[in-house]
Amino acid sequence: MSKRILVTSALPYANGPIHLGHLAGAYLPADLYTRFQRLNNRDIIHICGSDEHGVPITIAAEKEGISPWDIINRYHTGNKEVFERFGIDFDYFGRTSSETHKKTSQEIFLNLHAQGIFTKKAQKQLYDEEMDMFLPDRYVKGTCPNCGHPEAYGDQCEKCGTSLSPTDLIDPISAISGNKPIIKETEHWFIPLGDFQDRLQDWIDSKKDWKTNVLGQCKSWLDTGLGDRAVTRDLTWGVPVPLPDADGKVLYVWFDAPIGYISATKEWAESKGDPDLWKSYWQNDETSLIHFIGKDNIVFHCIMFPATLMQHGDYILPENVPANEFLNLEGRKLSTSKGWAVWLHEYLDEFEPDLLRYALGTILPEAKDSDFSWKDFQSKVNSELADILGNFIFRTISFTDRFFDGDVPELKNPSELDINTLNEISNQKEKIESAYNSFKFREAIAETMHLARIGNRYFTETEPWKTRKENPELCGNTLHICLQISAALSILFEPVLPNKMHSLRRQLGLSEKISWDQVNPELLKAGQKITQDEILFEKIEDERVEEQINKLTERAADMSPEKKEYIPLKKEINFNNFTAIDVRAGKIIKAEKVEKSKKLLQITVDLGFETRTILSGIAEFFNASDLTGQTVCVVANLAPKKMMGIESNGMILMGEDSEGVLHFVETDAEPGSPVN
Ligand code: 2FM
Ligand code: ZN
Repeated sequence: MSKRILVTSALPYANGPIHLGHLAGAYLPADLYTRFQRLNNRDIIHICGSDEHGVPITIAAEKEGISPWDIINRYHTGNKEVFERFGIDFDYFGRTSSETHKKTSQEIFLNLHAQGIFTKKAQKQLYDEEMDMFLPDRYVKGTCPNCGHPEAYGDQCEKCGTSLSPTDLIDPISAISGNKPIIKETEHWFIPLGDFQDRLQDWIDSKKDWKTNVLGQCKSWLDTGLGDRAVTRDLTWGVPVPLPDADGKVLYVWFDAPIGYISATKEWAESKGDPDLWKSYWQNDETSLIHFIGKDNIVFHCIMFPATLMQHGDYILPENVPANEFLNLEGRKLSTSKGWAVWLHEYLDEFEPDLLRYALGTILPEAKDSDFSWKDFQSKVNSELADILGNFIFRTISFTDRFFDGDVPELKNPSELDINTLNEISNQKEKIESAYNSFKFREAIAETMHLARIGNRYFTETEPWKTRKENPELCGNTLHICLQISAALSILFEPVLPNKMHSLRRQLGLSEKISWDQVNPELLKAGQKITQDEILFEKIEDERVEEQINKLTERAADMSPEKKEYIPLKKEINFNNFTAIDVRAGKIIKAEKVEKSKKLLQITVDLGFETRTILSGIAEFFNASDLTGQTVCVVANLAPKKMMGIESNGMILMGEDSEGVLHFVETDAEPGSPVN
């Protein structure tokens, strides 16, 4: 067991408020883990902060016509406050605009530079002549060369997930002016990740206990082969590159952001009055570093940042990166631009934090994407928190109050059922802690609720409402055991329901200093006074969740495509350009998933005159087995392209709806017929 634990949660961009997707990806799991370890008296700190550089910030500022400072100040303050209200227990919430951060990231850059690691290369970049600026990353949009998505960004296509360079885009346009950019040469510093390939491979191979979704992504990056990555950008907003020949250049946001974890830890140490304390966490092998992130951040935390840290040499590498998949909302992909999101500050204006901590905790996207719905939220609150946990605690405390004057009854001549039920406290405790230690938070929560279920069942089976008259000793035993289970739950449920369990401990007269290892079947002493004050969980009425569903659908309707601008038309082509494309009717005769690819289906198409293999990035939208027999439109004279070692001969046309869902363009014509 390591001496210390350093937990980090992905630094949220300070360009918008926090929503449920953020919570499910990083912050709630990180907080559950941290609170569990704190209860175990582990030396642990949880570090986070605002990511205040990069194109997302400047684009948000430009949209509103204000300065990046106004944007980051607004969202840094707002997000910090909302995390506090939700009970995310950070030790420090820093920001990457701080002086400490600037100094720390420049020092690390200079250290690598002095070791001769970076290569400086001239590079052709897109340039907006009217705005007089280069267009890195999200400053440019265009068509994805991989899947044809017309709104891919210069750093990534959000549709197919491919990571891109601005110059890869087809028909690029400037995201700020809409102008067609020119190509201009510029110089940048690159980290040759290829030189780290073997070291990274060995390191990741040693991580036998990492989650399969994380190892899968690392493997796919390593198998593709790592190349040079620019660590600088031509921008004015960011950490200036600390070299004499670097005017107008800043560090790439993904170079400086993870260093934000280090600078925030330094500021935390300062705030503790022990400025060197950060070193015991970052520069000491007896510390376990755990990064909590969403799946879109895996490559940066498992490849890029570790390469920087390895080369620097003075820092530890992450021991685990338990990244989560994505959270959907009411069956649809969460999208802030389409208004399809639940903002945490709005949630907190309506409901208590613990309810969401529980409901979201039970559906965390730990192994695959999961879905949040308001109806499910209501059902988790009503049927689990209120009907199981709340009911168990309420009847236990109120029976004790009414029939034993609020004194914990003595356990006398316990039956086998009594003893077995008491033993469940230790059984469940063991299962819960093993789940927390292996980052299986859904399981930890389910096993905790299971103990309440056991208590509830035992209460019903032993019928204290009858025994209180017929045999008060038996009634006393029931309540003694149910009170001990309630006392254990007040600690075991603490990571998930900190506010409610605080209230429960107050009612049971328990100290706030009980640690996890003190949880046993004798937390309460016979004769100890308990008091009933508040009902822990009230049920949520249908109207309240309907209100939330209406709010969501109305907001999405307000921002729907009818009210939004359509994707601009591409530039005019002449008739010959059009007739050069040979589209034919093709009948799908076979379709199967391409092994090791999430997106690709290998489709065999009968074109009448011949049979073709076509790869199509549609596996997320269709089941391969449902496609056979459909007649679709195929671009039949497209040059062959190899993907995942398979040659694709043509392209199947698809329509994309406003939700980003793909639909076939079907035809009744027989295979081979021209489609004009
Ligand atoms: O994806 C994001 O929201 C990034 N701002 C996360 C940064 S994590 C870390 F590297 F700082
Ligand atoms: Zn794409």
